[in-house]
Amino acid sequence: MSEPLILGIESSCDETGVALVRGRTLLHDAVASSVEEQARFGGVVPEVASRAHLEAMVPTIDRACREAGVRLRDVDAVAVTAGPGLASALIVGVAAAKALALGLGVPIYGVNHLAAHVAVDVLEHGPLPEPTVALLVSGGHTNLLRVDDISERITSLGHTLDDAAGEAFDKVARVLGLPYPGGPHIDRVAADGDPRAITFPRGLTTGRDLHRHRFDFSFSGLKTSVARWVQVREAAGEQIPVADVAASFQEAVVDVLTAKAVAACAEHGVTDLLIGGGVAANSRLRAVAEQRCAAAGIRLRVPRPALCTDNGAMVAALGAQVVARGRHASRLDLPTDSSLPVGQVRL
Ligand code: KG4
Ligand code: ZN
Repeated sequence: MSEPLILGIESSCDETGVALVRGRTLLHDAVASSVEEQARFGGVVPEVASRAHLEAMVPTIDRACREAGVRLRDVDAVAVTAGPGLASALIVGVAAAKALALGLGVPIYGVNHLAAHVAVDVLEHGPLPEPTVALLVSGGHTNLLRVDDISERITSLGHTLDDAAGEAFDKVARVLGLPYPGGPHIDRVAADGDPRAITFPRGLTTGRDLHRHRFDFSFSGLKTSVARWVQVREAAGEQIPVADVAASFQEAVVDVLTAKAVAACAEHGVTDLLIGGGVAANSRLRAVAEQRCAAAGIRLRVPRPALCTDNGAMVAALGAQVVARGRHASRLDLPTDSSLPVGQVRL
């Protein structure tokens, strides 16, 4: 008998994602993004995201089924992001998932968005070694996790105390006059810059800070430091060396992320590291992570960029693993939880 067909729905931020997964096979991943509508605000406006989800949800479900070559009535279970994320955005996906589960008479699994960012990698690289250390870096989150069982045992090792890594990229891009979202632009511009041109601060990496916040991150001091560096020179009428500033900023972020991720693996005796989230698309992050993991004897897994950013495939992939391990389904009246802790994989 073939493995169950799982329909996954993601709506925690500005991407409406719907995907169909059977076992570890992705049949189709349909994503509708409101990022262009958000660009004129320079960030995600929850009500804009929520309305965009409402408009995109049914067409995206239809498209996913059509492209996957399945009918809705073939679906064996529905998985949906129940949190963390924007409350008004989450509720659209969860309402759609409940309607489908009720209409089709199949179970519903409300799952954790962060766990889904980890689970998605099985679609590309096969079964996830457990334990694995996972570094999640996106516009909304920066987390270092230890994954002992993707369906129910994930522990937080550290997280950002202020800005997420992607948020820092977006804010620095704005200071440098680059468009939103800024991460890909900084990545591109930095390729022509010198990463050692300017020494920007590495948050929580020295002395008492490191001791108390061994696996935590802080990027707001770095962001402010870059902004001040640029302002002082602009006020003096100097030309801003955009490529050097971008490369030096990017180096500071990448240095801290990779150093702490590798240190977490060493301290926990874990030999596998996974990097996910939109910032995992960063070319310098991928290169430095590869070097440092190779030097430390750690196997590195990074899903392809389309699976790193928010999508329905990650939710369906986690749902498939939860179902395969025989975990309980959620109740049909499951709530959303915008601050769902990472340790709670299912609701
Ligand atoms: O995972 P994602 O699509 O959405 C969430 O925030 O959940 O991540 C988007 C973030 C944005 O901040 C964007 O600037 C950043 O990922 N990003 C990058 C790159 N591509 C996307 N940051 C650095 N380098 C990149 N190449
Ligand atoms: Zn995400």
